[in-house]
Amino acid sequence: MSASRGQWSSTIGFILAAAGSAIGLGNIWRFPYVAGENGGAAFVLVYLICVFLIGLPYLLAELALGRATQKNPIGAIHSIRPNSSWVLVGILGVLTGFAILSYYAVIAGWTFGYIFKMLFNLQVSFGEFISKPWLNIFLTFLFIFFTIMVVIGGVQDGIERWSKILMPLLLILMIVLIIRSVTLDGAGKGLVFYLKPDFSKITGKVILEAMGQAFFSLSLGMGLMVTYGSYLPKEENLFQAGFWVVIFDTAIAIMAGLIIFPAIFAGGVKPDAGPTLIFIALPTIFSNMPLGNIVGAIFFLLLSIAALTSTISLLEVPVAYVVDEKRIARKIAVWLVGGVTFLVGVPSALSQGAVPFLSNLNILGQKSFLDLMDFLWGNLSLSIGALSLSIFIGYVWKTKNAVQEIAQGFELFRKPLLGKISLASLWSILIRFIVPIFIFIILLNVFNVF
Ligand code: TRP
Repeated sequence: MSASRGQWSSTIGFILAAAGSAIGLGNIWRFPYVAGENGGAAFVLVYLICVFLIGLPYLLAELALGRATQKNPIGAIHSIRPNSSWVLVGILGVLTGFAILSYYAVIAGWTFGYIFKMLFNLQVSFGEFISKPWLNIFLTFLFIFFTIMVVIGGVQDGIERWSKILMPLLLILMIVLIIRSVTLDGAGKGLVFYLKPDFSKITGKVILEAMGQAFFSLSLGMGLMVTYGSYLPKEENLFQAGFWVVIFDTAIAIMAGLIIFPAIFAGGVKPDAGPTLIFIALPTIFSNMPLGNIVGAIFFLLLSIAALTSTISLLEVPVAYVVDEKRIARKIAVWLVGGVTFLVGVPSALSQGAVPFLSNLNILGQKSFLDLMDFLWGNLSLSIGALSLSIFIGYVWKTKNAVQEIAQGFELFRKPLLGKISLASLWSILIRFIVPIFIFIILLNVFNVF
C-alpha cells in the first residue's frame, strides 16, 4: 500500500519539500508588503510569536494525523471517523488546494514573465502587463505545466528531487540579492524600519494580519501537511522535521524583507504600496542601478522558484486524493487535476483588466475575480479548515493518540521536563485551547467583525 503511494527517501528530502511548499509567494511577495502596511518591525515581532506559538503546534498536529493514517486529508479523517460529516473538512481541504492553485498560478505566471521583462528591459508597465489576455493565459498555462512536470514524477523522483535542487538555489540567489540590497546608498533607513520595532504600532489588526500570514505562509489549514506527513516513515522525528520547516520558512520571509526594504528606502519609495510593491517599486529601483536588469531578473527567477515548490504542493493534495481513493494512475491523475485547475484559473488570469466584468466584480468587498478567489479560499476556507482540523485532532482523534504518534521517533516529547510538565502536555493545551481560539478570532476578522 504505502509503496504504491510513495514515501520520502530521507529526512532532509522531506524537510526541503515541506519547506518548499511553505516558502512561496507568501514569503517573498506577500510578507514584505503586509509588513510594510502594518508598521514594519513591530509586525515582524508579532509574526514570529504567532509562528512559534500557534503555527508550529498546529503544523505538528497535521503531520501527526498524516503519518498516523498514511492518507490524504479525506482518507485520513475517514479512517479515524468513518462515515461522519467530519469528512467534509477533508473535502474542503482538497478543494482548497485545487482552488488556491488556480489563482496562485496566475501570480506565479507574472513573476515568471517578469524574469524576461527585466532581462530584456521591456518597456511595459505592470498594469499593461497583467491586462494582456493571451499573455496571462499563456503564463498561467506554462506555470501549471511546469508544476505538472514535477508532480508527475512522484513523491521521491519528482517533488523530493526537484526540491533538493531548487531550495539550495533559492537560498544562494537570496544571499546574493541581500548583499546587493543592503549595500545600496540609503539602505540603512530601510533596515531601521524593518528591524527596529516601534511597539506603539502593535494593534489588534496587526496581530490578526500576522496570524493569517503565519498560517498561509506555513501552508496550513487545508491538510497539505497531512498529505506530506503521510509520506513519512514511522521512525522519523516529526517534531524535529516540523521545527526545521518552520525555521526555514521564517528565515526566508525575514530574508525577503532584507532584500526589499533596503532597496525600497534607497529608491525613495514608500513601503506601504500593497500587493503591487514588488512588481512596481522594485523594477524601478533595479532599472536605476548598474546591471540592474540582471539583478531584477535574478529576483524574479528566485520568486518563480519559490512559487513552483509551492504550486507543486498545492497540486499534490488533490492528486493524492484521486490516487488514494479513486485508484487512478498517478500520471493520469496529475494531468486531469492540472488540466482542470488551468481552466478554473482562466477567469483569474483575465481579471486584472483583460475582461472588464471579471476585473470589477465587487463581490464581498473584493474587486476582481482573483481577489474574490483569494478571499474565499486563501482566507476563509483556510481559516475554517484550520479551525475544524484543530478541533478534530484535539477532541475527536484526541491528543493522546496524536502524542503517541509524535513520540514515535521522539520519546523526549512525553518525558517530564519541568516538574510534571512535558512538551506533550504543553502541546496538548495549545492544540485544544489556544490554537482553536486564535483561529476562531482570525475567522471573525475575515468577516470584518472587528
Ligand atoms: N505557503 C505558500 C506560500 O507562502 C502557499 C501555499 C502552498 C499554501 N501550499 C499551501 C498555503 C497550502 C496554504 C495551504 O506562498
